Amino acid sequence: MSDVESDGRADSEGWGICEERLLERHMEMARIGETPTGGVDRGALSNADTDAHALVMSWFRQSHYRIEVDDVGNLFIIRAGQDPNASPVMTGSHLDSPPNGGRFDGTLGVLAGAEVLASLDRHGVETRRPIELAIWMNEEGSRFSPVTMGSAVRIGRLGLDEALNSVDENGAVFGPQLQRYFEKLGLAPMPRPRLDPAFYVELHIEQGPILENRGVRIGTVSGVQGVRQYRIDVTGKAAHAGTTPMDMRKDAFVAACRIAAGLTAEFADDDGRTRFTIGRMRVLPGAPNTVPEKASFTVDLRHPDPRRLAEYDAKISTVAAREASPCAVAVEPLISLEPVVFNPGICDLITGRARRRGLSVETLLSGATHDAANMATLTKTGMIFIPCRDGVSHHEDEHAKPADMIAGANVLFDVILALAERTDAHAAIAAPALI
Ligand code: GLV
Ligand code: MN
Ligand code: MN
Repeated sequence: MSDVESDGRADSEGWGICEERLLERHMEMARIGETPTGGVDRGALSNADTDAHALVMSWFRQSHYRIEVDDVGNLFIIRAGQDPNASPVMTGSHLDSPPNGGRFDGTLGVLAGAEVLASLDRHGVETRRPIELAIWMNEEGSRFSPVTMGSAVRIGRLGLDEALNSVDENGAVFGPQLQRYFEKLGLAPMPRPRLDPAFYVELHIEQGPILENRGVRIGTVSGVQGVRQYRIDVTGKAAHAGTTPMDMRKDAFVAACRIAAGLTAEFADDDGRTRFTIGRMRVLPGAPNTVPEKASFTVDLRHPDPRRLAEYDAKISTVAAREASPCAVAVEPLISLEPVVFNPGICDLITGRARRRGLSVETLLSGATHDAANMATLTKTGMIFIPCRDGVSHHEDEHAKPADMIAGANVLFDVILALAERTDAHAAIAAPALI
């Protein structure tokens, strides 16, 4: 490799990804499911999400690529290696978005992975290991629960049936929607494709403010904090809004508000590390002149320390029961993900390759969860972050600078290429530990 410029771009020989194509494809992808105010709306298995998958497939029609889809809809683009017995290096991310999401979350990692493959072709590089780009199905979990569904099924943390039976807010069932996706892509699912990667590395925007605030170009991610999600169902009694005296009501919404306030106070910790969100609230029957019979809301709770999360598990039910009276309350756990530690060797490799491109780099913990957290239970895993403007994500204003996208994609290129020659795969996987 010859010298590189200090902004992380390729040198005059263009060693690395193709900058123009990355940025053009990013704009092309941003038009699929675009919203009038600059974001994207690509709920998992929506027409836009399926079209986005089809667009990536259309880039890999050459004969040395294999395209496979598995039984939960994960799409794999596979570039053959020289050693037929070598397990692959994987990269990947997702193309689905939350409602009115941004153009970078997930998409960047997919586009950069596609660039790694296409740029190896352009440079005429053959690698020892195969390289696989995974486009994980339903990472967001905002249309169909749970979050990181596709990779969770693939690693065996979630049953396929549970995924197929997931129902969205409008009553659409994941399984039949998935059949439509297979038909539109013209692919038959493989029931259990081999998933035995030697390494997994994912590029993503940080989705938080740390890199930008510190003026750092590249983040190497030490791990992912733990996540809990719950649904809290409060049941009262419907009654006439005009005739029912206030002291005779069992108003489910009022009780839900008390529970929400109680939880907000309970989870306001001193060091500000706890993240607590009520992101969805439904009130039934939902008429202006009827006292609510039911109120259901979600709780998303995150912390890097598994002991703290275990304490919180108990506190949720205690606070809900304390504040619900005179209504009844049920707390249903939806998701429980322990904190994950990534492979220190891959972190070091990312740091080293970023520095070789003249990029500043720091280690940080991921506040968001990612498919990489599932992959870390299977193989040596790492993540590369780039800064995003004001730390904004899950919003149409999400933005990353083109120079940072290019820098991140080039670091991914360098890291994947290095791993594709390595012979030391399948040594110890980093065990989950306190962060
Ligand atoms: C993924 O977007 C998450 O919920 O962290
Ligand atoms: Mn994401
Ligand atoms: Mn997201």
